[in-house]
Amino acid sequence: MNILEFREVSKVYNQEKSGIHDLSFSVKQGEIVALAGPSGSGKTTALNIAAGLDEFCDGEVRLLDRSLQNLLPQELLNLRRNDVGFIFQSYNLFPVLTVLENVEYPLALKGVRFYERIEKAKRCIEEVGLAGLEDRMPSALSGGQQQRVAVARALVTEPRIIFADEPTANLDAVTAEKLLLLFRELNDKQGTTFIFSSHDPRVLKFADRVIVLADGRLAH
Ligand SMILES: Nc1ncnc2c1ncn2[C@@H]1O[C@H](COP(=O)(O)OP(=O)(O)O)[C@@H](O)[C@H]1O
Ligand SMILES: [Mg+2]
Repeated sequence: MNILEFREVSKVYNQEKSGIHDLSFSVKQGEIVALAGPSGSGKTTALNIAAGLDEFCDGEVRLLDRSLQNLLPQELLNLRRNDVGFIFQSYNLFPVLTVLENVEYPLALKGVRFYERIEKAKRCIEEVGLAGLEDRMPSALSGGQQQRVAVARALVTEPRIIFADEPTANLDAVTAEKLLLLFRELNDKQGTTFIFSSHDPRVLKFADRVIVLADGRLAH
């Protein structure tokens, strides 16, 4: 079953050549897929559209068997909260919240009760190898640790699909490899689908399949 489908999707920014153009691809449930391509090739644009974080101009996007453009705002919000995790390149942690508070936040949005939130958040923090750092502020963590908090926050709702925009761009080679092995482990254990972007060949080899973009289109 396709968990994500792009059908001739276009998004044009102010200049004609920017954005993505008639982009079609699909991702099956349980796959780990990498979006590759040089800077400016449309990776971030495609990921943001796929996750329902950004609008597009033309074509159709199907996520989890729903056509994104037909969803009401509240339906889109629920889909994102319940089934989608997103890991941003620059982490986007809340600087004034602790590690634990950052990770439990998506559960609070869903209305999960306090004790269940804490328990689930702690389990995810342990899973990403940060046990003991629950009460730290993000600013007191290394880049690799902050990225792991962002991963724990994306995992905590047990989404069916996780998008990650250049998740290893700010990590050293060893930390990057650990993160990708964690993706693989979650994929094995829980069947989580991963779509991440990168232009690093060492990172791309971890994917089951690589989709290469050039100038907002599929490269051939
Ligand atoms: N907010 C924006 N406004 C105008 N142009 C943009 C915007 N975001 C991206 N673009 C343009 O769209 C193209 C694809 O960008 P992007 O998706 O960020 O590529 P990548 O993530 O592969 O580096 C680039 O030409 C970029 O300059
Ligand atoms: Mg980008």
